[in-house]
Amino acid sequence: MPLVSMRQLLDEAAKGGYGVGAFNVNNMEQIQAIMEAAKETQSPVIIQASRGARAFAQDRYLYHLILAASELYPEIPLAMHLDHGNSFDTCKSAIELGFTSVMMDGSLREDGKTPNTFEENLDVTRRVVDFAHERGITVEGEIGVLGGVEDGHGAGGTGLEHLTNPDQAVEFAEKTGVDALAIAIGTSHGAYKFSKKPDGSVLKMDLLIAIHNRLPKTHLVMHGSSSVPKDLQDVINQYGGKLKQTWGVPVEEIQLGIRNGVRKVNVDTDNRLAITGAIRKVLWETPEKFDPRDYLKPARAAMQKVVATRMTQFGQAGHASDYAAVSIAQIQQGYKDGTLSTRPKAAK
Ligand code: G3H
Ligand code: 13P
Ligand code: ZN
Repeated sequence: MPLVSMRQLLDEAAKGGYGVGAFNVNNMEQIQAIMEAAKETQSPVIIQASRGARAFAQDRYLYHLILAASELYPEIPLAMHLDHGNSFDTCKSAIELGFTSVMMDGSLREDGKTPNTFEENLDVTRRVVDFAHERGITVEGEIGVLGGVEDGHGAGGTGLEHLTNPDQAVEFAEKTGVDALAIAIGTSHGAYKFSKKPDGSVLKMDLLIAIHNRLPKTHLVMHGSSSVPKDLQDVINQYGGKLKQTWGVPVEEIQLGIRNGVRKVNVDTDNRLAITGAIRKVLWETPEKFDPRDYLKPARAAMQKVVATRMTQFGQAGHASDYAAVSIAQIQQGYKDGTLSTRPKAAK
């Protein structure tokens, strides 16, 4: 199947009442792990690359590797998404390279740390939506700011300082016309999200539900959605690692989100943990080995296991063949004639 529009994937997920995992990649093995998991579970999937990933791998490599994935797995609907674009130019360059979807994270300034004003976020996101929709490309925006700074995207603190305001979420969605909306409900990126199993005082699922009630047709996105399972932490520590005990977002809370409008679920850290644990184990148990394939194969398998598990838990498993790809040209026409527009006429 050719690369598909993320908008199509999310519209289908809304029809089917399930969530779609958006998994971060930096290299070939991670892409292979995701695609094998998608094949195993027959899942549509979103592969996303951050600015850091684009810089690390050189983004033409990533583009062609993801393109190869779409050719090798023709039965899997696959969208290629830019994660946390920090400016109009970053989004533009991803679109020009061939990404079928971009995130304009205007909740933060270009430094990825300083919270932006509502007006500045609105302005830059609207400009990206105009540019992207003219080309049939999907846009995710963000309102409210995630905490933490572990992955270089976040305002620091606990994540409770800049929760999404539902009134602003409504105004932002209507005025920008984004296809998907990331909200801040207390999560943050990386492994150190919560110092104990989170309850409603730190993970604001009630806020998510309130936003969904106000914006029932908007596809919501949960960032910082790794569950940071103890067994993955334990493998790393068993083989010489030094992780402090930590808690992520419990899968049942993500599933509650999915029942309340969450269609895209961002996961990176769990895969990083799985890969690192598998590599540590090989190097610890067989220190004489030096062929990278000896540790990259188990690393890839460990990531595939995590991704397949999440695909089943998010409900996307079994939905790969529900629909055929709509071409980007058709999606472009849909934005043009207004059938796909999410911006009410008055706000144009
Ligand atoms: O948003 C954070 C993702 O985990 C990507 O992180 O910027 O370190 O690639 P990164
Ligand atoms: P985690 O760090 O929880 O995996 O979140 C990833 C993410 O939100 C990418 O945008
Ligand atoms: Zn994120």
